[in-house]
Amino acid sequence: MTDQQLQKFKAWFADYIADFYGTSAYIDANLELKEIHTDYVCKEAIYIAGAIGLGENDRLIAAVIALFHDVGRFEQFTKYQTYSDAKSENHNLMAVRILKEYNILADLTETEQDIILKAIELHGAKELPADLDELTELHARIIRDADKLDIYRVLTEKYRQYRDDPENYSLELEQVDEPTYSPHIIEAIQNHAQVDYTSLKTLNDMKLLLLAMIFDVNFAPTLKRIKQHGYVGQLLQLLPDDEVMEKVGQTMRVYMENKIFQLDKQAGS
Ligand SMILES: [Fe+2]
Repeated sequence: MTDQQLQKFKAWFADYIADFYGTSAYIDANLELKEIHTDYVCKEAIYIAGAIGLGENDRLIAAVIALFHDVGRFEQFTKYQTYSDAKSENHNLMAVRILKEYNILADLTETEQDIILKAIELHGAKELPADLDELTELHARIIRDADKLDIYRVLTEKYRQYRDDPENYSLELEQVDEPTYSPHIIEAIQNHAQVDYTSLKTLNDMKLLLLAMIFDVNFAPTLKRIKQHGYVGQLLQLLPDDEVMEKVGQTMRVYMENKIFQLDKQAGS
């Protein structure tokens, strides 16, 4: 694919999402969050694709996947006033449906279309299926890493805003803010395991889920970015100040150092 095609996709995306604005200030504020998110995820995906040494064509494909990965969010929030897939519809599948409906990718080769649609379909899955072909898996891993990087930016900021001024907080909060957290999530973190969204009880659980998502990061450049921004420390500052959390912080830091070392070694060999 070409850069010209990417520019065409960007123009279509801007046009498509513009129609969803204007219903209410609340909806607009939430949509804008996803519009800015898309922009950041594109930048992160291009950064990762470059840092792991992909060629021009795959860098462009990574950018298209990033551009369209959350295209379903605009219809989702307008229709259901929530970003919770459980309370509405699976936004990964919505994106695939919309791209097919508008036949946006028609100019690309069939292989490119398949990779893009599959990576988008799987960007929010708890884990990737084992039977993906190599290139699809690579792109699915890139979008999942790029998405995570920006989820950390968005949510640490959002939760800070809420903590500092809960009365004037104007965005959707998906969990109840109670001072507790669930033991099974702490256990998952100690085991370097993922946490199921459906098992969350409180806002603290969600913050811990964000930490556990680090175990699912695929590339050293992503981990380095997480470290550079200090997202682990930022999340811990938003969690209760106790011994359990101190241990969680230690688990995360040790894991990240080891994983960066291991991935860098793999990439170098
Ligand atoms: Fe998404």
